[in-house]
Amino acid sequence: MLGSAAIIHIHMKNIVILISGSGSNMAAIVQAAQREAWADRLGAKVAAVISNKADANGLVFAKKQGIATEVLDHKAFASREAFDAALAGLIDRYDQPQAPVLVVLAGFMRILTPVFVGRYAGRLVNIHPSLLPAFTGLNTHQRAIDAGCKFAGVTVHQVTNVLDDGQILAQAVVPVLPMDTAVTLATRVLTQEHLIYPRAIAGLLQK
Ligand code: GAR
Repeated sequence: MLGSAAIIHIHMKNIVILISGSGSNMAAIVQAAQREAWADRLGAKVAAVISNKADANGLVFAKKQGIATEVLDHKAFASREAFDAALAGLIDRYDQPQAPVLVVLAGFMRILTPVFVGRYAGRLVNIHPSLLPAFTGLNTHQRAIDAGCKFAGVTVHQVTNVLDDGQILAQAVVPVLPMDTAVTLATRVLTQEHLIYPRAIAGLLQK
């Protein structure tokens, strides 16, 4: 007889995380997956971390965790389409018919083509450091300060072909304090990012 805690997941769902830089959100997701036993409880694991920059610090952390890492330098490709096709080729190594890969953008600073977005529709998520639909694009924290916002925050959302659009999966709010700079506000928001992104992904995996 099986013990009560034994859940056998025949098809382990792979999570592939795309980064461009420090990868602190990626690390938060990896740590949550370990702490919360996603493999046993949710039948999912972080299978690979892919960066478009060879010097992305997050790669060091991922390697130390024994996670497969890949670097795909966008500058080596003649077009956005060619880069995205190569990226999809890497991701699809982790895709399985019975367990479609979940693609997680975690500070991946690339605009993706419609073909790429369409390929992973419904299983492609992003974190954006603003309370969407406010402040899509770059420099979100400085723009929130300049606009006199009293609150700022972060959004986890499904990715569509419209920049920083798509169904909102989670948000967190932080105050904007009188002495805030873009750096101090970003730090406060990032703390919340590390809480809501793993939670939102776990929520998706439970569906
Ligand atoms: C995070 O603040 C994330 O929200 C933001 O980049 C940072 C990456 O940090 N993403 C975007 O601006 C996407 N438009 P991390 O590499 O430490 O996770």
